[in-house]
This record gives sequence, structure tokens and C-alpha cells, in this order.
Amino acid sequence: MARIRGLTTISARIVVAFAVLIVTFGGVSAYSVVNLSRLGRQIRLIRTGYVPLALQAKELEEKQTQLREFLDDVTAESSAARVEARLRSYLATRARDLREAIEMADALRDVPPGHRAGVADIRRQLAEFAEAIDRAAPLYDALLADPPLAGVAPRDAAARDRAQQALERLVRSETELRSRLSRFWRWQRRIVEATALHLEESESYVRQLTLGLGGLAVLLGVLVAVWATRSLLPLKRLQLAARRIAAGDYASRIDERGPAEVAELAREFNVMGRAVESRERDLVRSERLAVVGKMAASITHEVRNPLSSIGLNAELLEEELAALGGDAAGEARALCRAIQTEVDRLTSITEEYLNFARLPKPKLHPHDINAIVEQLVDFEREPLAARGATVVAELATALPRVEVDDQQLRQALLNLLRNAADALEEAGGGTVAVRTRLAPGGRRVQIEVADDGPGIPPDVVDKVFDPFFSTKDRGTGLGLALTLQIVREHGGAIEVDSAPGRGTRFVVTL
Ligand SMILES: Nc1ncnc2c1ncn2[C@@H]1O[C@H](COP(=O)(O)OP(=O)(O)OP(=O)(O)O)[C@@H](O)[C@H]1O
Ligand SMILES: [Mg+2]
Repeated sequence: MARIRGLTTISARIVVAFAVLIVTFGGVSAYSVVNLSRLGRQIRLIRTGYVPLALQAKELEEKQTQLREFLDDVTAESSAARVEARLRSYLATRARDLREAIEMADALRDVPPGHRAGVADIRRQLAEFAEAIDRAAPLYDALLADPPLAGVAPRDAAARDRAQQALERLVRSETELRSRLSRFWRWQRRIVEATALHLEESESYVRQLTLGLGGLAVLLGVLVAVWATRSLLPLKRLQLAARRIAAGDYASRIDERGPAEVAELAREFNVMGRAVESRERDLVRSERLAVVGKMAASITHEVRNPLSSIGLNAELLEEELAALGGDAAGEARALCRAIQTEVDRLTSITEEYLNFARLPKPKLHPHDINAIVEQLVDFEREPLAARGATVVAELATALPRVEVDDQQLRQALLNLLRNAADALEEAGGGTVAVRTRLAPGGRRVQIEVADDGPGIPPDVVDKVFDPFFSTKDRGTGLGLALTLQIVREHGGAIEVDSAPGRGTRFVVTL
């Protein structure tokens, strides 16, 4: 999943993830509740409104039919009292039914917006029915004043005439009212059917929508869970790296990208890894130093004395041969000199071992660093020039005096100078600069030995201070180890900065 900008911490991501989930599920629930209550209102409207009203309309229409049919039979009746009684009864029940219908329509409150116009129409029609019935009242009075009954003579010819006309008008008006009531009842039935159908459709729509939204919310939940899990993955990397280090892979490092807390942890972890690695390296170094110490002691006893007597005897032998003279003697003398050279080399190696093993505690006195450097450079200029290396000194003025053991410092710097000369000789010549300056902070002094030689490959640069590490055929690999030891004994630090083709720079800070 793409990284969302700005969400750089795990806690922020988890909060956002939960917020998204809560909002989504809350939204879906709220939507469902709103829809359910809408459906509920429609159901209530049908159950308590439209259905009873439709039944009432049916009842009303039946009463109207009976009344209308009775009007046809009036002339066949023979008793005015019975006609009046039945007519009054029909009129009363019709009036009661209509009143009830009007009450039902009035009771329709809290109607959903889509139904308001329909309900208003129902009320209007019911009011019109009531008006029509009211209009008919005088006609009934006229009819009942002297009803035109079969075989009953009129009491008053004019009243009988009016009754006859009233009956004819009533037949017309009640017929019309019956067909209007019949339409009204059918309309009510259609409303019930249409609303029920709409209700069914809404229910199925709401069900599908709720299911769909629920599914979407679940999918979102899964995605959020995956996202949160992925945010925590870097912790797994940390755990694996910790295991690797515990298993001895001290060079193991962790990718420092990821959420802020993890990146911070990874950085701390890498710092710790580097510290452990350098501690481990120091440990190996000091173990080797201890071995060198023991070796040096035995070399002193077992090798040094025999070596010097071999050298001495070879010298004597050469003198004897010189006294003999002759060609064969000349060849033998050359062999003796070769023996002496090798003995000298071996002696100097044993010296180096001894130096290293028996490095005394430095005797610290305040010294002018520039003076030490200048003297050393002057002393080494000739021999270095012979090997193609030009030495230059660039000395800062007004440096503070520093507490050092001048002998040991000279030895340390000499090792750096000789390494530079070795590198330059190999490259066919170049310059080595020795610089002094005030260290950043102004309280310490830095001595830099920089050459423009071939440089040190990156995979080698970490090992140059290890005892016995050398890339040279005849190197002991003790030069820089000794330099490092001297600098450390002085409470100082030494750093190397080198890359192939860029030369090499050693900086000693004291
Ligand atoms: N100025 C330099 N340029 C290039 N490589 C260097 C330089 N200084 C040190 N090195 C590398 O560091 C290694 C270790 O140096 P160190 O002085 O400890 O031993 P060495 O010079 O090989 O042997 P020794 O000092 O006993 O003659 C060298 O073999 C060389 O590969
Ligand atoms: Mg060296």
C-alpha cells in the first residue's frame, strides 16, 4: 500500500486507521438506521392510515349503494312512516361512516413528504362528499313531506309535486355520489397496493445497499489491518538484525527508513551496532597485542642473540675471505654480505616487535608540536626524496604547547611518513604534506599527514590499524598499530580518510 504522506509515526497511523474504521462503520450503521426508520414510517402509514381508510371507503360505498337502491324502491312502498324510518337510518349510517372516514384522514399526521399531497387530496374529496350530502338534505325534507308512494293519495298536490321532483333530483345526485365514492374506494385500494409495492422495493433496496456497504466496510477493515500490519513490519527487521548481531555478525545494519519511531530505533540500533563492532575490533587488537608481547619476549631470548652472533660471524668470515683473496673468495664475500643484509632486516623486525611489545608509558611534557614536526620533516626529507616523495610542512602559528612524549610522537609520525613514502614510491612519486592546526573547538592540536598516492580501497581501510595487517611483501603490519597505541596512550585520536585515486590523509588529534 502506498505510503500516506504525513503519517510518519506508527501511533498516528494506528489512530488514523481506527478513525477510518469507526467513521466507516458508524456511517453504515447510521445510514441503515435512517433507512429502517423511513421504512417503519411507511409501514405505520399503511397499517394505521391507508388500510383502515380504504376499508372505511368500501363501507361508505356500500352504504351509498344501499341508499341509492332504496330510492328506486320508494315509489313501490306503501307506508310513509316506514320510508321515512328507513331513509333516516340509511342517511344516519352514511353520515356516521363519512364522519369516521374524515376523522381517520385527519388523524394522518407525520406523513412522509411523498404522501402529503395524496393525503391532502383525500381530505379534500371527503370534504366534498360531506358538502354534497349537506346539499341533498333539503331534497330529502321535500321528499319526506309527501312521498309519492304506491296507492297513497297526495295530501297536497303541490307538495306531492315537489316530492316527486326532489326524488328525481335525489336519484341523480345520489347516483353520481355513488360513482364518486366507488372511484374513491378504488383509488384508496390503489394507494394501499402502490405503497405496499413501494415498501417492498425500498426494503429490498435498503437490504442490498446495507449488505454492499457492510461488505465495503469489512473490505476497508481488512485493508486497514493489512496497512497497520505493514507499518509494524520494520520492527521484525529490527528483531532479525538484533538476532544477527547476537549471533556474532557485528557488521549487520538496519535500513533506517520507515515510520518515525522505527527509523529512530533503527538509527540507535545501528549506532549500537557500530559501537559493538569497534569494541569487538579493539578486543581482537588487544588480544593480538598480548600475543605480540609474548612473542617479543621469546624473540628477545631465542632469536636476537643468535642473530647478532650470526651477523658478527658473517662479518668475520667476510674479513677472512678478504685476506685470502681470489675469485672464489670474491663470490663467497658477496654471499656473506647477503647474509648480513638479511640478518640486519631480521634484527630490525625484532626491534619493531620489541618496540611494540614494550611500549613504555609516555613521559608527558609540554612540547611545541610544530618544532617536533619540523625536526622530523627535516630529518626525513633526504631519505624520502630518494624514494620519489617530496615532503612539505604547513604549520599553523600560535599553537598551544601540548603534553606529549616527544620520542613516542616522533615514532608515531615517522610511521605515517614512511607509509606515505611507501605508497608514493609505488605510484612513482608524489607529495606528502605534514600540516598542523588547531582542532575544531580550539583546545586540541591536529597533525595531518596527507599524500597524493594511490589511496586505500574501502574494504581495506577499516583494517589498517589491525596488528599484522599489511598489503606489503615485507611489511610487518605493526606500523599503524603502534601509531594507534601511542596516540591512545596520549589520550588522543587518529582518523584515516582515503579512497582509491584520491590519496590518503591521517589526522592525529592531541
Ligand atoms: N599512506 C598510505 N597509502 C596507502 N596505503 C596505506 C597508507 N598507510 C597505510 N596504508 C596501508 O595500511 C597497511 C598497514 O600499514 P602499517 O604501517 O600498519 O603496516 P605496513 O606499512 O604494511 O608494514 P610496516 O609498517 O611494518 O612496514 C599498509 O600495508 C597499507 O596497505
Ligand atoms: Mg608502515
